[in-house]
Amino acid sequence: MAEWRVAGGVTVLLKRDDLIHPELTGNKYRKLRLNLDAARAQGHRRLLAFGGAYSNLIRAVAAAGTLHGFETVGVIRGEEHRPLNPGLADAVARGMRLTYLDRATYRRNTDPDVLAALRREFGPFYLIPEGGSNELAVRGCLDIVAEIDVPFDVICCPVGTGGTLAGIAGGLRPGRRAIGFSALKGGGFLDATVEDLQRRTFGRRVGDWSIETRYHHRGFARSTPELEAFLDDFAGEHGWRPDPIYVGKMLFGLSALARNGELPHGTTAVAVVTG
Ligand SMILES: Cc1ncc(COP(=O)(O)O)c(C=O)c1O
Repeated sequence: MAEWRVAGGVTVLLKRDDLIHPELTGNKYRKLRLNLDAARAQGHRRLLAFGGAYSNLIRAVAAAGTLHGFETVGVIRGEEHRPLNPGLADAVARGMRLTYLDRATYRRNTDPDVLAALRREFGPFYLIPEGGSNELAVRGCLDIVAEIDVPFDVICCPVGTGGTLAGIAGGLRPGRRAIGFSALKGGGFLDATVEDLQRRTFGRRVGDWSIETRYHHRGFARSTPELEAFLDDFAGEHGWRPDPIYVGKMLFGLSALARNGELPHGTTAVAVVTG
């Protein structure tokens, strides 16, 4: 793991999960692995996934379908826009069929009537929920912690739908804690989301974890000059530029916590580069 010395006597170790698979990078690989096993074991031939038009998950499910021999359907929030953006075009090129749901219907993407209508249209499928965050995804993220063989005090990851943090925190041994950095504005609700995922997966809230909501930089997929300047500096120092939507905000937030003295001097933090 590459080492990054930030202010306040804090050492950050970068866990490059973005490099674990050429096509299913980072937390997509972690979240999909056990789901693909389950889909196969249950005899499914088709995966259906929900996501926004810029969803990394939709693209990853399309890639997983090609790699593992499943048909794939992507259910996209909102209206169709032509030409397709590069992510959706790539998914279609891999054989994914796309369908669109208006925002009100999309919000009900776990309701039985919405799923029944999709089954009538596309036939039986194995469901990958929005963000890929279900119990098997949370279990898949336990591996992130299990692979770390150096001492650390704190582990950090970005938070979108919460599955990654739920799994990482679930794998911590006592004395260690996890901090998730919300990529969304108004991420106060995420605490309950992560706790719910942990209860569904492990039967209870597990591990010492919290979510930082101060470093969203104007909201999901938005940015600020401070974040851009930070990413430029980081790229100059490390030779690669983190993804600004999730990983960049986590790294910015982590360095801010260190600078503000909110992490004890001498802390070793692992930052999971999730994509
Ligand atoms: C690169 C990257 N990091 C982190 C996340 C957030 O993970 P989660 O949705 O499990 O909170 C996502 C979105 O799924 C992502 O694409």
